[in-house]
Amino acid sequence: MTVVLGIESSCDETAASVVVDGKTILSNIVASQVDLHQVYGGVVPELACRRHADVIISVIDQAIKEAGMTMEKIDLLAVAKGPGLIGALLIGINTAKAISLALQKPLVAVNHVEAHLYATMMSETVTLPCIGAVLSGGHTALVRMDTFGEWKLLGETVDDAIGEAFDKAAKILGLPYPGGPSIEQFAKGGDENAYPLKAGSVKANPLAFSFSGLKTGVLYTAKGQSASISSPLILNQQEQKNLAASFQKAAFADICKKLALATQKEGISTVLFGGGVTCNQYLREKVAQDLPEIRALWPQNQLSLDNAAMIAGLGYHIYKTNGASSLDFPAETRIAFIPIDRNQS
Ligand code: KG4
Ligand code: ZN
Repeated sequence: MTVVLGIESSCDETAASVVVDGKTILSNIVASQVDLHQVYGGVVPELACRRHADVIISVIDQAIKEAGMTMEKIDLLAVAKGPGLIGALLIGINTAKAISLALQKPLVAVNHVEAHLYATMMSETVTLPCIGAVLSGGHTALVRMDTFGEWKLLGETVDDAIGEAFDKAAKILGLPYPGGPSIEQFAKGGDENAYPLKAGSVKANPLAFSFSGLKTGVLYTAKGQSASISSPLILNQQEQKNLAASFQKAAFADICKKLALATQKEGISTVLFGGGVTCNQYLREKVAQDLPEIRALWPQNQLSLDNAAMIAGLGYHIYKTNGASSLDFPAETRIAFIPIDRNQS
């Protein structure tokens, strides 16, 4: 039995979790900073860092206590090494390194985006090969996994991530941050066919995404041609709801279209979803409706948004395969997926 303490601080959630053997979650503590950033309509990195530093020790303490553990009983530490905000990442990483040094426990560095996909494997049995769909605030990508732990890139966003597009669209409509749940709620009273919005296509790769034009479409519809984000809304409340619904429909129609293409092209029907946007119930219904031929696997609710259970879970497997990380590993603001090599697949 391997008891892993996971630590996550890549953006605006400070999280710690104790997981046994990569699957059994004994505790999963998430200190959200939404209250702190809401007035700014987005994450303010400097404020995020300060809050992480303030709460990280008590979050870890709580995770250990809730798991009925002591620090001595932890066999392994796992921490998110990136991608994310540099200062925010460093707080989790340096805390983990300090614990590792002080208590002589091994530490593994974990890729946050891969952990979002692993989150779904914690509750679902996955057969390989499969396709992974990362739909988060910082990333939008379709990847393929033939061997456990090795994700290869099929296509990713060339501009905004899908969650970022939701956050920006919400800001345009004056809805609270984070924008995803706000838009989903607001759109419930709207007509999704009211506005003919569409996400972009990328010539060089039909499996790549582009959401910045869709966001601009929302801006111009909501505030007038060539308006800026601070311009006043020109739509009444019902029209705003129609716009939110039309935006949501367009964003998810694009995800479904590219998933249909990817599964067909790769000859794979299992799709693993990960990231905060997978909280969206309309998306889950749309996938079931539009893509009945795929086996869609979703993360459990408390594992969709940023959390440390997914870090501890994936950390366990990395340790089993590669052993501990050397303690001088850096925080990485960006980590690219390896492009797929068609000659090998
Ligand atoms: O995975 P996550 O917690 O953080 C990143 O790694 O980026 O995702 C956060 C993103 C935010 O952009 C948020 O607006 C979006 O997930 N999100 C949603 C919903 N809940 C959260 N987007 C659409 N619908 C939702 N219900
Ligand atoms: Zn995340």
